[in-house]
Amino acid sequence: MFRVSSPELVVAAASAGIIGAFPTLNAREPDGLDAWLERILRDCAGAPGLPAANLILHKSNPRRDADLAAVLRHRVPVVIASVGAPDEVVGPVHAYGGLVLADVATVRHARRAVQAGVDGLVLLTAGAGGNTGWLNPFVFVAEVRRFFDGLLAVAGGLTEGRQLHALQVAGADLGYVGTPFIATHESLADAAYREGVVAAGADDIVVTDAVTGIPASFVRGRLRELGVLDERDRPAARPSVEVSGWGGGAWSAGQGSGGVPDVCGVAERVARFRAQFEASRAGRP
Ligand SMILES: Cc1cc2nc3c(=O)[nH]c(=O)nc-3n(C[C@H](O)[C@H](O)[C@H](O)COP(=O)(O)O)c2cc1C
Repeated sequence: MFRVSSPELVVAAASAGIIGAFPTLNAREPDGLDAWLERILRDCAGAPGLPAANLILHKSNPRRDADLAAVLRHRVPVVIASVGAPDEVVGPVHAYGGLVLADVATVRHARRAVQAGVDGLVLLTAGAGGNTGWLNPFVFVAEVRRFFDGLLAVAGGLTEGRQLHALQVAGADLGYVGTPFIATHESLADAAYREGVVAAGADDIVVTDAVTGIPASFVRGRLRELGVLDERDRPAARPSVEVSGWGGGAWSAGQGSGGVPDVCGVAERVARFRAQFEASRAGRP
């Protein structure tokens, strides 16, 4: 997650047995990315989970080529391609034995990514934090499963292990979770942002393009405080602070905020998901 996922968060996630991802842009300069990757790969060696790098492939990303080169140099085991076609990434990552997952929000983009040869898809669904999706998860999984039998992850609103079980029953392999990890000790979010996510419920989340020009999910009250939205969620003519790139303190979070009860460590968050998932699979409440 942009401005949220730190090396500590990624390492803690891999140590807890899941895949911990971060957008390469979080390392502020391309040189910084080399240092981050070195540290993350060293500290994840021997962990039960894996680190993943998330590359923003849109042509407007000035760091696109430099960051891709760094990811290839360090042979990051899992590469997540988002906001752009994954074609260029698949060959070079497969050459060193890595996996490529593509972030998609439409069936059309899912088909394109499959044609490009990705190993897996991340289906962005309604209610997700960041640049949200719109499709219903059950509809999206069912339609994609008709033409793709590779790794399928679902993103959007996941806060409990039994939801992961439900998705597995529906045909997915993995849950892709963002918002609950904002409220962790290892995240880069400041204390007010973490607490803001804990305090928010699903009704407090608004999807607006007023911050970056692309529709994304935010805590409504915070955008009003910053003067970005008025009382009817209309963009103010001029925001009171510079919030583009989420740099001015806008709090992106998904509808799952309502299912985040506290700020805790990554290991604790993962342990709760795991215990709830196992209980659900065993038919326990
Ligand atoms: C604060 C924040 C920043 C995000 N930044 C990125 C990003 O830089 N690249 C990306 O592919 N997805 C990004 N996302 C989306 C997440 O990767 C993920 O798809 C989403 O958080 C899942 O939905 P959930 O928040 O309901 O769990 C971001 C999400 C949040 C909440």
